[in-house]
Amino acid sequence: MTEPVLVVAGAVLDGHRMLLAQRDYPEAVAGLWELPGGKVESGESPDQALVRELCEELDVEVSVGAALRDVVSPTDSLTLVAMRAEIVSGTPRAVEHRALRWVDGTELAHLVRDGALVPNDLGWAHEMIAELQVR
Ligand code: C5P
Repeated sequence: MTEPVLVVAGAVLDGHRMLLAQRDYPEAVAGLWELPGGKVESGESPDQALVRELCEELDVEVSVGAALRDVVSPTDSLTLVAMRAEIVSGTPRAVEHRALRWVDGTELAHLVRDGALVPNDLGWAHEMIAELQVR
């Protein structure tokens, strides 16, 4: 059996806010918000992949922290892990996304309520809302 594809996503944190990125494609998720990230390539650790992906997608350098507790497996062939991250240099810009925004716990809860988060990332919503509300 082939191993599932591993995707790492960044819960990029700044105080009580987290960065969300608005997808531009594919059509099914265009306009919805996600934690930026992408596939771990062969020979890379998850941390290295997240540093590379956030450099490509946001044009920033990050330091990677602890993973969120919840691992998301939307299909047998896809596993998503989210890791906390902090920007160590640069100002994020939407290189591959339609837009970026910083949200606090209340704003994140509203996006979830309104169906504005990509479905896969809903698996992290509760943990992140709770964490943002106590930061
Ligand atoms: O962004 P990219 O297309 O490289 O993402 C790889 C895969 O991971 C896609 O299937 C995408 O839908 C998924 N993904 C996700 N949630 C994220 C980041 C990526 O479901 N926060």
